[in-house]
This record gives sequence, structure tokens and C-alpha cells, in this order.
Amino acid sequence: MNQHDTIRAVEWIDGQLRLIDQRLLPQETRFNTYDDVTAVAGAIRDMVVRGAPAIGVTAAYGVVLAGRVRFAEAGANWQATIAQDLATLAASRPTAVNLFWALDRMKTRIAQLDGGDPEAALLAEATAIHEEDVAANYRMGELGAALIEGTGGAVLTHCNTGSLATGGYGTALGVIRSAFTSGRIAHVFADETRPWLQGARLTAWELVQDRVPVTLLADGAAAYLMKQGRVSWVIVGADRIAANGDTANKIGTYSAAVNAKHHGVKFMVVAPTSTIDMSLPTGAGIPIEQRAADEVLALAGKRVAAQGAEAWNPSFDVTPAELIDAIVTEKGVVLNPTPEKMRALQINGVRVD
Ligand code: MRU
Repeated sequence: MNQHDTIRAVEWIDGQLRLIDQRLLPQETRFNTYDDVTAVAGAIRDMVVRGAPAIGVTAAYGVVLAGRVRFAEAGANWQATIAQDLATLAASRPTAVNLFWALDRMKTRIAQLDGGDPEAALLAEATAIHEEDVAANYRMGELGAALIEGTGGAVLTHCNTGSLATGGYGTALGVIRSAFTSGRIAHVFADETRPWLQGARLTAWELVQDRVPVTLLADGAAAYLMKQGRVSWVIVGADRIAANGDTANKIGTYSAAVNAKHHGVKFMVVAPTSTIDMSLPTGAGIPIEQRAADEVLALAGKRVAAQGAEAWNPSFDVTPAELIDAIVTEKGVVLNPTPEKMRALQINGVRVD
């Protein structure tokens, strides 16, 4: 780990899965351990762990735990029942495609195994998924930072896309870390990210630990920040990118992209290719998670909204490709995404202008 990469949200330690409980940060740093796949699915659903790549890595380790239990129960017949566990994990959250991508990869590995103890083979696959994600983040960090011109500038980010949201280092926050290290930026503005406050609680926590200057703002203040010319790029992650480049990300991302276009601020999406869903032609097909009304009506467990008011709480929105200047993946950068450029990226991993 380098100087700007000191946090791991998901770890496999002594035969157990260990997660930082992200619901408690930054007030409390508590680690939960898991040896049961149903509890792992619950941890994803309840946001103990969140962020698309981190959800995928967690689910992969969940399959390792499932394999251990099914082998203990059924011996050579373990493969007959593990499909239920994969279905339980798949039902935890709908939008981040990394979850389904990781489960597909584990399923492929399961199909290659015989009736012997599967734990070592499943753990090797889950560990590979984890390590590949960290490596992808470092690569994207370099590629994305290279797009930022000048030195000492500032950027805006939304939600949390850092070590907490990934295998480690981060997607958008990886680019930001890399750009800070190389002096291209000197300051980060972070939307607080209502209603779950991933920006205020998690992004600020990560950046403060890394000694990267960070200023929080209410999501609604972003347009005014852009109007004042204080940021050159908005840099965000993604939960699912369709074949034409339309991108689902944390609710409020679409609004940031519209505002960026209006103010001539560039808009960068940073995501590994495991976030790209080439089966969906456009973002219209991306399932958008609706979360509990309480997340909007209450703050830190205390009701703040008028009694009787209802709430609409989509957890994600879709930013159309035409508002995106660059999609940065570990396989290359797509500028002004189109279906053709996205296909070329998947096939050749080249930069297509
Ligand atoms: O609801 P969350 O916190 O899981 O949403 C996370 C995001 O929207 C992130 O921006 C996205 O997963 C990219 S994380 C590298």
C-alpha cells in the first residue's frame, strides 16, 4: 500500500471475512467478521459494505464461506445446494453490476470443480477478484489523472468511491489520489451526498487520513461552486455502465453532470470494466434501487421531516453518455462515449477519440 492507500474495507483474515462497518464511520471504526453467507448478504443489503466493486469482492468471499458450509453439510454433493447461496447474495442489492459479475465468475469456477473440498480454489478466485480490482484502480488512477491539465487545481466528487467502496485505493477517488500525488490538483470538493452522507462521512474520512485537503458542500451548492469556476472536473464512480456509456451512479450524479455541462466543467466517470454491462444497450434498462423512506425522513436515526410527509428515495440515477467527457477504465479511456467506442474498449482496450 502506498502513502495514499491505507484503508481496506474488505479483508479475508484467518478464514473469515472482515468488513469495516461503514454505517458507523467516521464516529466509530468497528470491524465485523462473517462466516455465514446469509449474514454476508445482509451486510451488503444493510450497507455495512457498499460501493459497487466492494460489493462484488464481498460477494466473492461470501461464496467461499458458502462453499465451506455446503461441503461440511453435503460432502461431495456440495455443488447441489450452493446455487441457493449465490441467489441469496444476488438478491442483496440490484444496481451495482459488479455483484452479478463477481457471482458469475465464482459460478464459473464452481462448475470447474469436483466433489472435493472447494475452499482453497474458491478462495483463490475471490482473492484474484480482489487483487485485480486494486490493480485496476491504480491503473485508472494514472489514466484519469493524466486527463487533468495544469497543476494545483481543484475537482468535485460525489458519493464515496475510495478504498471503502472498492477492493482498495478507489475509482474516482483513486484518480483524485493519483492527481494529488502528482500535483495536478491541490484540493478536493466533496458533495455531502444526501441521504446517506457517503461524501460527508466516508470520502472526507478517507481524504483527511490521507492529508488531502477536502471541503464538503451540500449537494445543492455544487452548481454555484461550478459557476464560480472553482473546479475543472467533476470525477465520479459508477454502479453500472450500459453499452452506450450511460452511467448509473449515486443519486445526484445526474444533477452534477447537467450542471457541469452548463458551466463548461468536464465530467469524468471512473470504473473498472467489471462495472460495464454490455447486455444493456442504454441506461434505461438499469435497475434502480429504491431504498427506505426513513433514509430521507430521518437523519442519524432521528426524524427531521414533518410527520405525515412521504419520501421518494431512489438510490441511483442515470447520467446519459452525452454528458460524459471521459469514461476511465483499467483497459483504457473512452472520450465522449458512443456504443462503437465502448465496444472497441472492451475488445481492444485502446483509447478511441
Ligand atoms: O449506495 P452506495 O453507497 O453503494 O453507492 C455507491 C456509489 O454510488 C458509488 O459512487 C459507486 O458504487 C462507485 S464506487 C467505486
